[in-house]
This record gives sequence, C-alpha cells and structure tokens, in this order.
Amino acid sequence: MQKTAVLMDGKALAAEVRQALEPRIARVRAALGRPPGLAVVLIGDDPASAVYVRNKERSAQKLGMASQVARLPASASREEALRAIQSLNEDPAIDGIIVQWPFPPQLDELEIFGAVAPEKDVDGFNPATMGRLLAGRPRYVPCTPLGIMTLLRRFEVPLQGAEATVIGRSNIVGKPMALELLRAHATVTWCHSRTRDLAVHARRADVLVVAAGKAGLVTGGMVKPGACVIDVGINQTDQGLVGDVEFESASRVAGWITPVPGGVGPMTVAMLMQNTVLAAERRAGLEPPEAR
Ligand code: GUN
Repeated sequence: MQKTAVLMDGKALAAEVRQALEPRIARVRAALGRPPGLAVVLIGDDPASAVYVRNKERSAQKLGMASQVARLPASASREEALRAIQSLNEDPAIDGIIVQWPFPPQLDELEIFGAVAPEKDVDGFNPATMGRLLAGRPRYVPCTPLGIMTLLRRFEVPLQGAEATVIGRSNIVGKPMALELLRAHATVTWCHSRTRDLAVHARRADVLVVAAGKAGLVTGGMVKPGACVIDVGINQTDQGLVGDVEFESASRVAGWITPVPGGVGPMTVAMLMQNTVLAAERRAGLEPPEAR
C-alpha cells in the first residue's frame, strides 16, 4: 500500500487558536472596558473580497470582538480612502485595521497600506511594518505566513537547516513567507514566474510553500519524498475550488500536505484575530501570554 501524507488540518488548528484567544479577549475586556476591535476597509466590489471580509467579520463576532467594515465605492479617490483610514487610526475602539486587497488601480498600494497606523497594522502591510520583518524584529507578521508558521510548528516540521522553497514573491505572502522561514533558520530558495527550472528547486525542498495562484502548478513529480507541502492557492476551476498543488499526486509523495480548502485559508483568518488581540493587549499594556 502506498503511503499518504499527513493532512495538515488548518480548520481544526484554527479552532484551537480561536479557543486560546478567548481568555486573552476576556483579559483585554477587563483592562480596557471593551473588547478588541477590528476594522476592515473594503474598497470596490470584488466578489471574492466580499466573501473574505464577511468571513473575517463573522470570526471576530463569534469571538466576542468588535468588528466593523468601512465600505468605499470602486470610484473612491485617494483622499476618500486616506480619510477613511485616518479616522480609524484615531478611533479609540479600534485596535487593528486592514485594507482588503486588491483595491482599485487609482489607489497606490504603498500609500494606502502606508497610511495604516503602525500600531494598528495587523496585516503587516505598511512598508514600515514590512521593514521591521526584514530587520528580523517584526511588530506584526502578515497573517498568511504567520498561519503557515503556526501549522509548521504544530506539526513539528523540522525547519532548522532545512531546504525551504517558496514559489511566489507577492508582498502579501511570498516575500514575508521567505523571511519567516529564514528567521526559523531554513535555507530559503525563492522562486517565481521567471524561474528557469521550477521543478529542480521544488524537488530539492524539505518544505515547499506554493503561492503562485496557478491551479495544478506543482505535481507529485516535483515533490521530494517526505517533504512538507503547503498550498496557499485558491483557484476557482470547473472542478471547483483547487489549490496550486495537484493534491492527488502530491499527497502520495509528501510527508505532510495542506488541503484546499481547509488548510491555509482558515489559519489566515485565525491569525488576523490573533494579531488584533495582540494589538489590543499592547494598547492595554498587557503582556501577551507567550513570546511567539
Ligand atoms: N487579500 C488576500 N489576502 C489578504 C490579506 O491577508 N489581507 C488583506 N488585507 N487583503 C488580502
């Protein structure tokens, strides 16, 4: 019988993370007289973004956190967007602010993300926050890479000295992911759409993180036997929702693998809640229960 990979169940781990947040939320409530507060700025009407934002709102509410969504039209000007962010920066009931990405092209990403107050930047997308991560002393780690690191640690995937290959170089996932793996003492290879021989780099990896946004990009033949395969892709296809990894073939070779859906996605939302609670604790002058 062929061996199959250990399934890294992100849905189950996300539930554990939320449970661990409950006493921390109660502590914030006692200290501040209000729950941790999250604000999402949603600009335009991207249907996928609407679903993600609803998930984030629902998750916050289920935890008894305060959550609000500031909605702006797709035609929003730079001034309107900056004003909305500034008013949340100044709102004493809000600890964490995220601007849902993507947003309309008339808005400059660095300027918009850069307008979020660093102490409320729970997405970690402000260039100043990104700089802290690059310097090895992060204030907030972006939610998807943080969720993946949490999965890797929970499943005790060896990282020190391990070969880690990241496919994708977005500011949201690929770049911070590589930095986090480096901080965990992996030897990191960074691949992207112009990489000459992707299979060679993939096959060398003990830990393979795929965040390319291309259905079925990585097949079982590109996976080192026993490797840990993390699939960040979310692709709508005729066969339904699939990741960037061909699950069938890869799960017969890998040692660990994340499913899509139910792997990285739920962890990202849970980490947003965790970062928001952390922001509220810092606001209240409370010590987080343990160093990350
Ligand atoms: N769009 C896709 N992922 C994310 C994320 O983690 N944060 C924000 N703000 N937008 C996203």
